[in-house]
Amino acid sequence: MAATEPVDIVELGVGDAQAGLVLSTEAGWNQNEADWRFFLSKGIVFGMRDGARLVATAALLPYSAANAWISMVLVTADFRRRGIARRLVDACLGVATRRGLTTWLDATPAGTSVYGPLGFTPTLQLRRLRLPKPPEAKATRQLSAGNIEALVVRDAGAMGFDRSTLLSEFAARSGSHVVSCAQAMALIRDGRTARHIGPVLADRPDQALALVDAVVGTEPGSWLIDAVHSQDEFLNGLIRSGWNIERPFQRMRFGRATMLSAELPFAVAGPEFG
Ligand SMILES: CC(C)(COP(=O)(O)OP(=O)(O)OC[C@H]1O[C@@H](n2cnc3c(N)ncnc32)[C@H](O)[C@@H]1OP(=O)(O)O)[C@@H](O)C(=O)NCCC(=O)NCCS
Repeated sequence: MAATEPVDIVELGVGDAQAGLVLSTEAGWNQNEADWRFFLSKGIVFGMRDGARLVATAALLPYSAANAWISMVLVTADFRRRGIARRLVDACLGVATRRGLTTWLDATPAGTSVYGPLGFTPTLQLRRLRLPKPPEAKATRQLSAGNIEALVVRDAGAMGFDRSTLLSEFAARSGSHVVSCAQAMALIRDGRTARHIGPVLADRPDQALALVDAVVGTEPGSWLIDAVHSQDEFLNGLIRSGWNIERPFQRMRFGRATMLSAELPFAVAGPEFG
């Protein structure tokens, strides 16, 4: 047990980015400081402190058309199983309810046990995959520079609502690229431990796989992708190419269904962003 009991929920600001990063790093997550700055400046992030030390967080990120994402639900190891995550998620839901927002999240298995009893219901499933070491460079399909406006439009078709603020901010970061290959397009960006590919949108699984193959052939290092589980041809193709499944995520919704999707993505922007 820790010496003191954190009781007050506080709203965090951009100055808490480093402390937030300590928590996500403890959990082994891939977020970097730029991700935390985005949540802290564009979202509402609640936290709990033990003295000066930040020990828990939960973020509500409002999107468009009355949708919001909950993420960064983190409790440091020695403060777990005291109802802290439940209280912080409840605080996020309170804001969402007051603003009339339908709330979504992508839950880790431990997170699912927190959210189910709060009234979240399961929707689609994701699989996080890691490519530890890209294969030797080989001749792949030609990768072109993609267009952020086109990605925003296609992403809105897949999500059922616009995420131009998020995607434009990602695309503007150093190390980010929007890429396309035949009828497939994707965004790639830096993370703490690995580069991330997503969202990936394409007409067919072979196009999505060719794009991913071309991306990982462009640079060395480790890669992460969050594939939609029901895109089985894509998922199996990644595994055949050397990607390993790291963990499942369960997408869950609180509130009425608000979005009508025109297409299913092959991979999402990340469980913390949807
Ligand atoms: C998941 C996590 C946020 C839970 O935080 P917490 O403060 O310990 O959760 P709470 O105490 O509010 O738990 C509420 C309920 O959820 C369930 N629960 C929480 N953690 C659980 C676990 N590891 N396994 C099974 N059930 C769990 C229990 O039913 C618990 O109620 P109980 O303790 O009365 O039985 C924390 O373990 C964590 O930070 N894990 C690593 C990061 C992560 O996976 N975050 C979730 C992202 S979606």
